[in-house]
Amino acid sequence: MSGANGAPAAELVVDLDAYRENLRVLRELAPASQQMAVVKANGYGHGMVPIARAARDAGADWLGVARPEEALALRSAGDDGPVLCWLETPGAPFAELVEAGIEVTASSAEQLEEILAAAPSRPRVQLKVDTGLSRNGARFGADWSALVRAASRAQESGRVQITGVWSHFACADEPDNPASAEQEAVFIGAVDELRGAGVEPGLRHLSNSAGILTRPSAHFDLVRVGIASYGIDPDPAVRFPGVRPVLTARARLAQVKEVEAGARVSYGYRWTADHPTRLGLVPVGYGDGLHRTASNRAEMGYAGRRVPVRGTICMDQCVIDLGELPARRGDLVTLFGPGDDGEPTAEEWAQAAGTIGYEIVTRLAGRWTRTYRGER
Ligand SMILES: Cc1ncc(COP(=O)(O)O)c(C=O)c1O
Repeated sequence: MSGANGAPAAELVVDLDAYRENLRVLRELAPASQQMAVVKANGYGHGMVPIARAARDAGADWLGVARPEEALALRSAGDDGPVLCWLETPGAPFAELVEAGIEVTASSAEQLEEILAAAPSRPRVQLKVDTGLSRNGARFGADWSALVRAASRAQESGRVQITGVWSHFACADEPDNPASAEQEAVFIGAVDELRGAGVEPGLRHLSNSAGILTRPSAHFDLVRVGIASYGIDPDPAVRFPGVRPVLTARARLAQVKEVEAGARVSYGYRWTADHPTRLGLVPVGYGDGLHRTASNRAEMGYAGRRVPVRGTICMDQCVIDLGELPARRGDLVTLFGPGDDGEPTAEEWAQAAGTIGYEIVTRLAGRWTRTYRGER
């Protein structure tokens, strides 16, 4: 989306230097483990391919994605390093994935059989155990034992290479929650069972960003870093020292107007001016991924000052109250960023919208122009 002179009307500026530096900081926090940069969901809204390239530049050992098409898109973009994919539905393109050198995840004995039936050669497969989250993965107990037996048989007959065993935390962003210790104990039990069946586990991994800080004993052989690598804390209770937001969302004012006291703003008239003021029209809305629940609550940055969002956030636009600031049509406003010029962060938008920072950045879609700084 561009203005008349080519300046984008709405722009996401992605600071790849900050992203690489964040990965370096995170590596120091888990120095004995390999690092998987999680780039799923379009690199948490930052743009998967440029983020993936920057991750490799920064020395990330692995890239992690949820869906097969994300893994294949990385290969199409020229990435040829280790990639793990973990959310495959029946009929997933296992042959293509394996031929492309992507490691896939088996979450049940049945899924392992599907992978083996489809794969042209001896695929590299990681096994996922559900240690409590109840999402994908074989539930520890009968389901896990069935997967272990299937893996052991397939290995004996030379049909598979088991390269990893892994699981995912449910509550790592709650430092005092005993659930993480429980999951870690179950995970260790699952690895022991696999070993007991004669299968070397390969890479053992359990930790996401939050776990790096809250569960050092769970770093194991690899940590999967997502949100903290983008410079966003997983939770206000888990603050990463030394990381910096990678993304700045900004837009050009489409219109500036003076209104009188009593002027009512946007759908539903949910805000009324109690004195004359100057309003700015920001050309982004929920169609671009803003949260409508941030209506009347979020702020933006303009010329080093905070200005409030007034009234309902619409599909394509929203309104800010510039007060007496001498703003003009075409001026830049910053929705969120690192906070260097006083603008809010994505985490502050999350608070205003009643959600988490993850959702603020991941939802960004639609008509933004993405601009990359620090591309190599
Ligand atoms: C399986 C898995 N591992 C790691 C991550 C990264 O988590 P975070 O962004 O909290 O670091 C995710 C993201 O949700 C995930 O689904």
